Amino acid sequence: MTPPAPPKHIAVIMDGNGRWARERGLPRSAGHRAGAESVRECVEGCKEMGVNFLTLYAFSVENWSRPQSEIDTLMKLLERFLREKSREMMEWNVRLKAIGRLHLLPAPCRKALDEAIALTATNEGITLTLALSYGGREEIADAAAALAQDVLEGHLDPQDITPATLSSRLYTSGIPDPDLLIRTSGELRISNFLLWQISYTEIIVLRKNWPDFKKSDLIEAVAQFQRRRRRFGSVDPAPSAP
Ligand code: FPP
Repeated sequence: MTPPAPPKHIAVIMDGNGRWARERGLPRSAGHRAGAESVRECVEGCKEMGVNFLTLYAFSVENWSRPQSEIDTLMKLLERFLREKSREMMEWNVRLKAIGRLHLLPAPCRKALDEAIALTATNEGITLTLALSYGGREEIADAAAALAQDVLEGHLDPQDITPATLSSRLYTSGIPDPDLLIRTSGELRISNFLLWQISYTEIIVLRKNWPDFKKSDLIEAVAQFQRRRRRFGSVDPAPSAP
């Protein structure tokens, strides 16, 4: 029997940086810095297992309400990550993308992001998508607004709006829906992440905090995914007659 295929697309809610730092008596910024190292482990694991798409929830629209000092730390960390890892992304054939209300990012961070996206645009290995200033409801609202504009301009008949039409106006257009969603630090919630896209995504919640996430955790999560049966609302096919 052929082994079950690995997921094509893994999405990750990287949670628990703050708790990781608190448990060690360190500032939250130390947790975020350690979390950036786990990103590398995750990309490497995906590459080794033949996962084509990885989407990481790095900063939500709700995260703008955190203390300004923490926002500044995260944005600087992101900017440094993008500048320092660009060469590695080229070596690993990573194509970088970003989803979210990116115009809200500080200019230096946006610049580093645009440059890394442009540099890696023709790479054909794994597609790494960073969700930044991202909200699932905001994404769906933006897609609805784009469709309304199409109707207003006479390019679209409201009768022709289908799930596929709406999907095509999401930030993730062209990226398949995630097969597997991993959340670290034990919380059982979705937190406004990829609300439309995860209709039939398998979910795995790990108790460990994101900075403790290693390649081996990804490999174990994929093995767990491969043991699951996905029926997409249908039924298992009847066993064939002997
Ligand atoms: C959640 O932990 C994590 C974040 C809000 C930020 C995620 C950022 C990183 C992993 C580092 C930078 C990312 C990249 C792509 C370089 P939390 O702060 O909510 O933790 P807590 O719930 O324990 O307080």
